[in-house]
Amino acid sequence: IPAGSTNVLAHSLHGIPHVVTATLHIIMGHIQPVDVCTFSTTDKFLRFGFSAMFGFGGRTLALAEKHRWMSPNQRRDFAIIKALAKLKPEDCEISFLPFISSQDLQERKVEGSLKSGDNDQWQTIQGQILNVSIMAIPCLCSVAPRGLAPNTRLNNGSMALIIARNTSRPEFIKHLKRYASVKNQFNFPFVETYTVEEVKVRPRTNSAPNLEEDAGRHAAASENNFPWNVDGDLVEVASEVHVKLHPRLINLYGGSMEEMNDSEVNCNCL
Ligand SMILES: *[C@@H]1O[C@H](CO)[C@@H](O)[C@H](O)[C@H]1NC(C)=O
Ligand SMILES: *[C@@H]1O[C@H](CO)[C@@H](O)[C@H](O)[C@H]1NC(C)=O
Ligand SMILES: *[C@@H]1O[C@H](CO)[C@@H](O)[C@H](O)[C@H]1NC(C)=O
Repeated sequence: IPAGSTNVLAHSLHGIPHVVTATLHIIMGHIQPVDVCTFSTTDKFLRFGFSAMFGFGGRTLALAEKHRWMSPNQRRDFAIIKALAKLKPEDCEISFLPFISSQDLQERKVEGSLKSGDNDQWQTIQGQILNVSIMAIPCLCSVAPRGLAPNTRLNNGSMALIIARNTSRPEFIKHLKRYASVKNQFNFPFVETYTVEEVKVRPRTNSAPNLEEDAGRHAAASENNFPWNVDGDLVEVASEVHVKLHPRLINLYGGSMEEMNDSEVNCNCL
């Protein structure tokens, strides 16, 4: 049973964070293939994972890790407040390979419009970015009952890329708060969502240094390291990070979530 302090994987697999449900899935032998990502830099493999956050989500975790003496809930709340107080966008370049469904691919073949380079349609976004989520699974958790990435599935071969561009602090807080409700948390002019297969995130370090920030990061070793939150683990990387989806790479115990989502949508309409 893949569990942890936020229980994101187990919660996404079973629809609820419930030990007995998880155990029953094992007893009944319900097996579910799950999409997994690889994370690497230009020259080094970093790790496998299901979800990642860069920017605000990474910085919050880095702050929480510095206060390990607090209880997990305490340090998470503390870190969020502190990161919000110091909210600052990162100048970065995000390239991604949009997902093309096999149906689309088939249609293009029929139309004869599929060129050999068609698998290579990378798109690029640049600018001041506050927070990035890259998620292969919906990431259900207590603060986001429909998931941090409700627009993806456990194993439909794609991942969600969600980008929050620079905005004012109150607007960003409004966006974060909406994860807790069923309302569309992405319905803001500064939030963009994409369905992708691969993503590269490259912070543009040549941007003017922020003196206050540098003074805060006194440890010389981490001067140019950017904190990533990969499945709740802090990963510090100085350069570009390349995230690639591997569809249905592993089998885990769990049930299909589709029925549950449907009933949730029905309730919504009442
Ligand atoms: C931003 O960060 C928070 C947590 O620090 C996270 O829950 C949220 O899903 C992130 N993603 C976006 C796109 O705002
Ligand atoms: C995965 O499921 C979500 C939600 O149903 C959908 O928006 C997305 O397009 C799907 N991706 C693929 C590749 O089918
Ligand atoms: C980000 O947005 C805020 C609020 O609109 C603005 O004050 C700030 O200058 C922006 N930061 C950058 C680096 O563009």
